[in-house]
Amino acid sequence: FMKRRKPCTDFPPSPPSWPFVGNLLQMDFRDLHNSFKQLSKQYGDVMSLRVFWKPTVVLNGFEVIKEALIQKSEDTADRPPFNLYEILGFVGNNKAVVLANYGQSWKDLRRFTLSTLRDFGMGKKSLEERVRDEAGYLCDAFQSEQGGPFDPHVLINTAVSNVICSIIFGERFEYDDHKFLKLLCLIEESIKAESGPVPQIISSLPWSSKVPGLARLFFQPRIHMLQYLQEIINEHKQTWDSGHTRDFIDAFMLEMKKAKGVKDSNFNDQNLLLTTADLFSAGSETTTTTLRWGLLFMLLYPDVQRKVQEEIDQVIGRTRKPTMGDVLQMPYTNAVIHEIQRYADIIPLSVPHMAYRDTHIKGFFIPKGTVIMTNLSSVLKDEKVWEKPFQFYPEHFLDRDGKFVKREAFMAFSAGRRVCLGEQLARMELFLFFTSLLQRFSFQIPDGEPCLREDPVFVFLQVPHDYKICAKVR
Ligand code: HEM
Repeated sequence: FMKRRKPCTDFPPSPPSWPFVGNLLQMDFRDLHNSFKQLSKQYGDVMSLRVFWKPTVVLNGFEVIKEALIQKSEDTADRPPFNLYEILGFVGNNKAVVLANYGQSWKDLRRFTLSTLRDFGMGKKSLEERVRDEAGYLCDAFQSEQGGPFDPHVLINTAVSNVICSIIFGERFEYDDHKFLKLLCLIEESIKAESGPVPQIISSLPWSSKVPGLARLFFQPRIHMLQYLQEIINEHKQTWDSGHTRDFIDAFMLEMKKAKGVKDSNFNDQNLLLTTADLFSAGSETTTTTLRWGLLFMLLYPDVQRKVQEEIDQVIGRTRKPTMGDVLQMPYTNAVIHEIQRYADIIPLSVPHMAYRDTHIKGFFIPKGTVIMTNLSSVLKDEKVWEKPFQFYPEHFLDRDGKFVKREAFMAFSAGRRVCLGEQLARMELFLFFTSLLQRFSFQIPDGEPCLREDPVFVFLQVPHDYKICAKVR
C-alpha cells in the first residue's frame, strides 16, 4: 500500500491506495454503489478514491448530495472527459447533451431540446396524445397474448421507443417492423457494450482514444446505431420544407438554417446526430426498465395492484383513456409510481459529474476538474430519510389522509443543473402506460413460473431478471 497522499489538507479522505491502480481493487464493480456505501461508513459521506492516479470524489447520502447538486449546482455541473468517445465524434463543442461539458454548447442544446419537447405543438398531435395512443397499442399487444404467459420486455421497450421515434422522426412503427426492431436491438446492445466497468475505466484514460481498435471493441453497436440515425436524417433533409416542422429533426434543421454563417454554431450536423442518439439512449431503456420493475412489483404485491385498480375504477372508470389531468385525483397510483422508481433505483450512480470550479462540500475542498460521483442509490435508500428504505412501501409518498406528498430525497432523476432532461416526458409515460395497463388487465404470476426475483442485474442500469407475466383482461 502507498502512504495516503492528500492533494491538500481538506481534500476528502480516502482509503489507502495501490501504486498505479489506485483504489480500483477495493471497488466491487458488480455492485459499485453498495461498495461505495460500505466504504463511506469508514471514510465518510464525502470521500475520495483513486482511479489509477486520478482522484475521484464520491458523495453519499441525501444531505451531502443535496448540497452538491442543488446548493452548489453550478460548481458541480461539468462532465469529465469520456476520451474513448472521441472516435465517435464527441469532440469540443460537439458532444450533444449527456456527455457535454458545462458551457454554451450544452446550454444551447439542452434549452432547445427541452423547449422542443415541451411545446411539441408541431405536427398534428400533442405529446400527451401520442403517449396515450401508444399506450392503447401496447394494451392491444398485451391482449393479443390471450392471457397466456409472456415476457413483457420487448413490447414495453417497443412502445416506449415508439414515443421517442414519433418525437424525433415524426412517425411511429408497427411492433413487428424489422427495421425498427433492429434499431431497438442496437440501442440495447450499445448500452450493454459501453456500460461495463472496463469501458468506463478505459474511457477515463487520456490516451485511450489513441489505441487502435480499442474504441471499436466497445462501440460497434453504437457505430451502427449512429449510421442508422444518419440515414434517417439524410432522408429528412431530402423531404424537408422549412416552412413546416414535422418533428425534432426538422426543428433542429431550422435552427441550423438560422445559424447559417455563424462561425462554430452549436447547431450543426454532428450535434443533430448526437442529440437524437442521446434521446434514444437516455430515454428508452430507462423508462422501459422502470415499467418492467413496475409490473414485477404488481405481481409481487397483489394488494398494491388491487388498490391501484380500485383508484383507476373510481377516478377514470373502465373505458375512458387515462390523461395527465387524472394524476392529481389519483394520489395512491402516483405514490406507487414514485415508490417503483425509488425502490427499483435504476441508475444508482447517475452519470459522472465534474467540478466546474473550485468548491467546498461539507467543508471539504474539491478542486476544479475533479470527477464527482453522486451515489443516487444512497439517497433513494437513505436510512435517515425513509421510513422503510429497503421495502416496497408506497406510503412513503402519502400523508395520513392519503394525500400525495412530494419528498425532497426522491432523486431518481437526479437534481440541479444536470437533472434529467426527459423527466417530464418520463413521468408522463410512466403514468399513462402504467394506468392504461392496470385499467385493462390484472397481472398474475404464470403457473409454474419459478420464484420471481427482486434483486437486480447491474448493467449501468439496474434491470430486473427476465420474468413472464399473464395479463388477464378485467
Ligand atoms: C440525464 C434518469 C428518462 C434524457 C439523466 C440522469 C439521470 C436520469 C439520473 C443523470 C443526471 C445527472 O447527471 O445528474 C432518468 C430516469 C428516466 C429517464 C430514471 C426514466 C424513468 C429520460 C427520458 C429522456 C431522458 C425519457 C429523453 C427523452 C436525459 C438526458 C440527460 C439525462 C438528455 C442528460 C442531461 C444533461 O446532462 O444535462 N436521466 N432519465 N431521460 N436524461 Fe434521463
